[in-house]
Amino acid sequence: MRSARLFRLFLREQSDPDTFYSALASDAADQLARYTAVRDRIVLDVGGGAGYLTREFRRRGARCYLFEPDPAELLSRGEPPDGSVLADGYWLPVRDGAADICVSSNVLEHVADPRGLIEEMLRATRPGGLVYLSYTNWYSPWGGHEMSPWHFLGARAAERRYQRAHGRPPKNRPGSTLFPVHVGPVLRMVRARRDVEVLCARPRYYPDWCGAVLLLPGIREIVTWNLLLILRRTG
Ligand SMILES: C[S@@+](CC[C@H](N)C(=O)[O-])C[C@H]1O[C@@H](n2cnc3c(N)ncnc32)[C@H](O)[C@@H]1O
Repeated sequence: MRSARLFRLFLREQSDPDTFYSALASDAADQLARYTAVRDRIVLDVGGGAGYLTREFRRRGARCYLFEPDPAELLSRGEPPDGSVLADGYWLPVRDGAADICVSSNVLEHVADPRGLIEEMLRATRPGGLVYLSYTNWYSPWGGHEMSPWHFLGARAAERRYQRAHGRPPKNRPGSTLFPVHVGPVLRMVRARRDVEVLCARPRYYPDWCGAVLLLPGIREIVTWNLLLILRRTG
């Protein structure tokens, strides 16, 4: 039921982004609530865009701070949440271990150095704190974002096709604001870290029992759609 509802809202993402992104933020907070309470906790929303997640976490009583490098994204829904900071996720302006919880939703595929972003989120999180990380992997049916499904023919071909069809470049430009990030390498990277315990690794939008697809190299790159990782910083 939950997955079907999210998919229905996703189909209306272009015409009614507010409803879709608000529902997604609420769903993300529910997923995190299985692992930790958020009330009175310090939460960092990295690459928070217009602030859907920040608003949701604040509504649930968290002390949530939004960090977003792109002013256009920050202002895309009008007034951003109070205290939002223009800042890059690679260099968060917070001390080591400042956060109880560090969140980034659908940001990793928009950075050139995913490892750098993950390391910075871990630096900003206190030992024992959690990192909520989700991203659309490249070979997902939505991996090319608005260029999908033509990204399966290659990023450049998909970009050229989009330009021809729409008379303008896509918002998400391969090699500039959209990068191929896969499931296997990120899973291996986080599992290899001694300071990280992987509490949850699963396709974000599917029911719990679909987590088993992550055991299938190759297939997981296509069917996962969006990988959710909930990590505990252990050291
Ligand atoms: C698809 S939006 C997601 C926004 C928000 N997290 C949400 O779920 O509503 C991707 C966001 O990543 C941001 N972003 C891109 N590069 C970034 C970086 N180096 N550090 C932090 N955020 C970045 C973009 O500006 C954009 O706001």
